[in-house]
Amino acid sequence: MITSHTYDVVIVGAGGAGLRAAIECAGKVKTAVISKLYPTRSHTGAAQGGMCAALGNLEDDKWEWHAFDTVKGSDYLGDQDAIDIMCKEAVDAVIELEHMGLPFSRNPDGTIAQRPFGGHTRNHGEAPVRRACYAADRTGHMILQTLYQQCVKRDVEFFNEFYVLDFLTSPDGTETAGVVAYEQRTGALHVFRAKSVVFASGGFGKMYKVTSNAHALTGDGPAVIYRRGFPLEDMEFFQFHPTGIYRLGILLSEAARGEGGILRNSDGERFMERYAPTIKDLAPRDMVSRAIRQEINEGRGCGDDGEYVLLDLTHLPKEQLDEKLPDVTEFARTYLGVEPYTEGVPIQPTAHYAMGGIPTNVDAEVRVSPDRVFPGLFAAGECASVSVHGANRLGTNSLLDIVVFGKRAGLGAIRHATQTPRHADLPDAPTAPLAELLDRIISSTDGEPAVEIRRELQDTMNDNAQVFRTGETLTEQMRILAALQDRYATVTVDDKGKTYNTDLLEAVELGHLLDLAETVVEGALNRTESRGAHYREDFAKRDDGNWMKHTLVYREADGTRRLDYRPVTLGRYEPMERKY
Ligand code: FUM
Repeated sequence: MITSHTYDVVIVGAGGAGLRAAIECAGKVKTAVISKLYPTRSHTGAAQGGMCAALGNLEDDKWEWHAFDTVKGSDYLGDQDAIDIMCKEAVDAVIELEHMGLPFSRNPDGTIAQRPFGGHTRNHGEAPVRRACYAADRTGHMILQTLYQQCVKRDVEFFNEFYVLDFLTSPDGTETAGVVAYEQRTGALHVFRAKSVVFASGGFGKMYKVTSNAHALTGDGPAVIYRRGFPLEDMEFFQFHPTGIYRLGILLSEAARGEGGILRNSDGERFMERYAPTIKDLAPRDMVSRAIRQEINEGRGCGDDGEYVLLDLTHLPKEQLDEKLPDVTEFARTYLGVEPYTEGVPIQPTAHYAMGGIPTNVDAEVRVSPDRVFPGLFAAGECASVSVHGANRLGTNSLLDIVVFGKRAGLGAIRHATQTPRHADLPDAPTAPLAELLDRIISSTDGEPAVEIRRELQDTMNDNAQVFRTGETLTEQMRILAALQDRYATVTVDDKGKTYNTDLLEAVELGHLLDLAETVVEGALNRTESRGAHYREDFAKRDDGNWMKHTLVYREADGTRRLDYRPVTLGRYEPMERKY
């Protein structure tokens, strides 16, 4: 049975971006938030170290310096109009969260505490600056709880444990009509008609084996949009966070280095002094992750297999560790059995954040081509590419991005809904494509379960589309992905039931990951230069002459991919060599 609902605005995802959009819409237009998780389980809660804003509470700072750092951090691929907006609006965004009740850590004078973070500097690179506003090392958790409380206060309507698995347009394909969602509790399909749809569904780090991402981060929003013929942007730029727990990938916040932590190799050397003499361990993530991998590759890794380096906090006072880094230290004890008061913590780069995603303009409107947006469709947060992060995101700019562009998505969605007199017509049989997909998986009998295909996807992405990549590894990965897609065509599930069929949903999610992995690898193979997080050993230099452009990848009807490009929006900051 199909249940229908009608709203002005439907928001897909209940992490920071979705909740911030919902707060904007609440009470103004009829709004629903649809989330595959209970909202406070969203991955925003895993972000630890802070949210940057040039408040200048502890030293001189300016939003323009923040913008410069973000442009340089992005390896000049970030769009400077969007970066200016984000850095300028950051200050108000933090104050707004404070007024909503977010329990920020405080300075002795009562102002919001700020700490240094990678790539954030004073006066265009002179030295690290204290710009990250934080709540111990639980900043994302506090933002998520605060925004959710504000939604509850405003009576926002939630559909929790509903998976949005299709996007609907009018029959002529020109207008937003709504989404189709699968209800986990009953297995029923629901049609949500809406004038505006906001995708805020998070990232897709689960295509990698070693990742800081939660199990739920399977790129459902970008995959749904991509399958409907929309492009995805800059998918080749996937961020590896330098300090994931060895083998497990769980995040140990960059705040640990912001508080004075040091990375050391097997000789005990503070190796970042060689790679980034000015800001050392607080260099941007792409550089630190490459440095770690280089140390390991050149035989200066630690442990029996030489596959990790150490995060050294032993010189920091215990009281500072307890107060500022309670999760980092507890995670080290729990997952590694290591005591950070006295021992170095084994870490390795971990797949952390997608710089690419659904392309939008600064009003969060989704681009259907380089110069045209699609009426009524919006995206914000990690699933989107606005593009403020370009080729490499600076730490703390994602919590900022979700709040600033989540709000803008909400404003845009209201504007479109109020200016649109009636809901678009639905296509004929709006649930048919999704029902067909689910039936195919349920009724498949001779295929293999998702788990084995997913394991191979994660292992091989880890090997071939890593911090360092080459034409050879990427070509091999394209071949592997094609073979995995063939096997996926007959994927099967043991559970044929309707109630909480996680087996079925994991099979659907695997399809999303496979499609997105192809866009990551194809973009990386195509981009014959090195920029930010995309480092081609066979094209080791940045090539502004040919590659100062965003990649757009489209899915053709036969499942193949077509590439196109969009120019980078330049501004005050001319591209220059990126030294720290
Ligand atoms: O290291 C961290 O605390 C992560 C922050 C971020 O990804 O922005």
